[in-house]
Amino acid sequence: MARVEFWSDVVNAKIIAVVNQKGGAGKTTLAMLLAGSLADAGHTVLVADADPQNTALHWAGMGQGYPAAVEDVSGEEGKLHKVLRRRRDDYDYIVIDSPPAAAAPVTQSALRIADLALVPVIPSPLDLWASVRIREAIVAARHKNPDLLARLVVNQMQPNTVLAREVMGMLPEFGIPLLAASLKSRTAYRQCAALGATIAALGARAGMAIMELEALRREVERLLNGEKD
Ligand SMILES: Nc1ncnc2c1ncn2[C@@H]1O[C@H](COP(=O)(O)OP(=O)(O)OP(=O)(O)O)[C@@H](O)[C@H]1O
Ligand SMILES: [Mg+2]
Repeated sequence: MARVEFWSDVVNAKIIAVVNQKGGAGKTTLAMLLAGSLADAGHTVLVADADPQNTALHWAGMGQGYPAAVEDVSGEEGKLHKVLRRRRDDYDYIVIDSPPAAAAPVTQSALRIADLALVPVIPSPLDLWASVRIREAIVAARHKNPDLLARLVVNQMQPNTVLAREVMGMLPEFGIPLLAASLKSRTAYRQCAALGATIAALGARAGMAIMELEALRREVERLLNGEKD
């Protein structure tokens, strides 16, 4: 019995890789908002900044209060999965922010260790076409990481436009299921980056954004805990 309790105390971080071949799709925004939300909910969280641009590191450096650890791991390249395997006991969640390069060794290494790949996509045909390479990278990663889950996350959603409806109609053909939660285009998200903050830190003025992100975080938690949607 005591042994069971001992093992239940061992943390084995769930690893989320935020990936897309397309630059500017919202990888860093999604990674930092989600990691911040997980940390505000009481989890211990590491953001592994695998992009040599180090945008996640800059985000956290803009203020004092970002509640997750953020580390530059971009130099690990194809060894990232080995490095993060050793860190798994230290955190509840590790969120990897990656460069806009599906074929980069660091992206492939991230997909090899991740439990879940999140692919932010802006609902425009150009962005979807450019994202096909990341689907191929996810399929290839499953040879070594067969349990890898993957979800598209619609970012900068503009509801009720004809274009958004048309693009949303194309998503099922993409071959990666869609997360039910999405992110609208919001000034509050840009403010988080400018202040080095999480969305909760903006308080009541960001009420809609807080709710939107909470829904996203809960859906991700459910997915990683194997609960049915
Ligand atoms: N939901 C959103 N609402 C408002 N602005 C957003 C949103 N998502 C992203 N942005 C803005 O769009 C720009 C690109 O976002 P971000 O840097 O997160 O993309 P990225 O995929 O990480 O880019 P890169 O490929 O260069 O790493 C940034 O200026 C960011 O503030
Ligand atoms: Mg980025």
